[in-house]
Amino acid sequence: PSSFEMTSKRFPKLKNDLLLRAARGEKTERAPVWIMRQAGRYLPEYRKVRAQHDFFEICRTPELATEVTLQPINRFDGLLDAAIIFSDILIVPQALGLEVEMVPGHGPQIPHPLVTPKDLDRLTEKVDVHKELQYLFDAITMTRHALNGRVPLIGFVGGPWTLMSYMVEGSSTKQWAKVKTWIFKYPEASHDLLQKITDVCVDLLVGQARAGAQMLQVFDSWSGELSPRDFEEFALYYLTQIADRVKSELGVDAVPMTVFAKNSWYALEALSTSGYDVVSLDWTQSPTYARSVTKGRVTMQGNLDPNVLLAGQDVVVEETETMVKEFYSGDKSTRYIANLGHGIMQNVPVENVEAFLKTVHRVSRQIVKG
Ligand code: CP3
Repeated sequence: PSSFEMTSKRFPKLKNDLLLRAARGEKTERAPVWIMRQAGRYLPEYRKVRAQHDFFEICRTPELATEVTLQPINRFDGLLDAAIIFSDILIVPQALGLEVEMVPGHGPQIPHPLVTPKDLDRLTEKVDVHKELQYLFDAITMTRHALNGRVPLIGFVGGPWTLMSYMVEGSSTKQWAKVKTWIFKYPEASHDLLQKITDVCVDLLVGQARAGAQMLQVFDSWSGELSPRDFEEFALYYLTQIADRVKSELGVDAVPMTVFAKNSWYALEALSTSGYDVVSLDWTQSPTYARSVTKGRVTMQGNLDPNVLLAGQDVVVEETETMVKEFYSGDKSTRYIANLGHGIMQNVPVENVEAFLKTVHRVSRQIVKG
């Protein structure tokens, strides 16, 4: 840990712990709510910062990362129950030695992706996250202080399968032919790569918790591209390992952990027994189905289709109300964190975000009150 981290450990007292209580399965007076990608381009104040700075420059500058992380917390004052640190899942491939650029309009680009197993030699042998990614830990510590206890701070990494997909495909593919070729043609090298990524993810999550993150989420955004059998072998095995290792390394300082394996509906039961406290759902599974499969073992998070926020405010209110009611289904003690089923889109009107947040507050409070 850096001297900055070491001298900054006395954090302000947390005033809103709804998220943490919901994650641990404790009663809450209403559903906590936050939004995946809540700091981003739908906010004019984000676009302003972004116009002056490169994406990864913001990630690497703790003052800027702190400023941007706080933007939605300030704008929707009292309506958001969590902050998520401004960063990206692709800092892990960077730490492993691959160049990653964020190209406006095209998303992330890796100019020299891994083509064959020989390319594994190009990766850094043993990544020291405190050397490569200390800026993230510093950003977390700084943000935790700047939040002044208003809401808990979430740290995150990408799931190993999703990160491997980027490292082999080189961008946000719609095909997955290259990375699928790897798992079918080079299964051993694929496992070597996934294990290498997993080791960095574990260190990065442990480091984020030690730097001040009060909850951790693993985003396996492309896991739904795998067959159920391949999901188990190439995604779930590593997701489970991450939860086990992070929790045992943190010991008494362990924080709640969330897994988001997008479109892997078939894996819901397995995910609910994989060592995570919260399973984040996309919109392809109904709350009723998710409740029946997870049976209160974990807290459910989600799952409004992000496209709903592109409709009129009346539709946002109606769809959000229906979602919240279905998650509770008359059971006030349901373990639930409201969110979208995937990241918010850049053309969403800010008023619709406010309508979503307010509806979650109103409806869930009503249900819990009875
Ligand atoms: O949630 C937050 O507010 C925290 C920040 C955050 C970002 N990316 C910032 C970001 C988080 C949690 C992520 C995670 C992430 N990044 C995922 C997993 C979640 C998901 O959405 O599936 C993935 C797959 C990535 C990789 C990535 N980064 C993509 C595909 C893109 C392009 C997206 C697009 O719409 O263009 C990014 C860029 C990115 N990451 C932006 C932000 C705010 C926009 C980039 C910009 O400002 O130019």
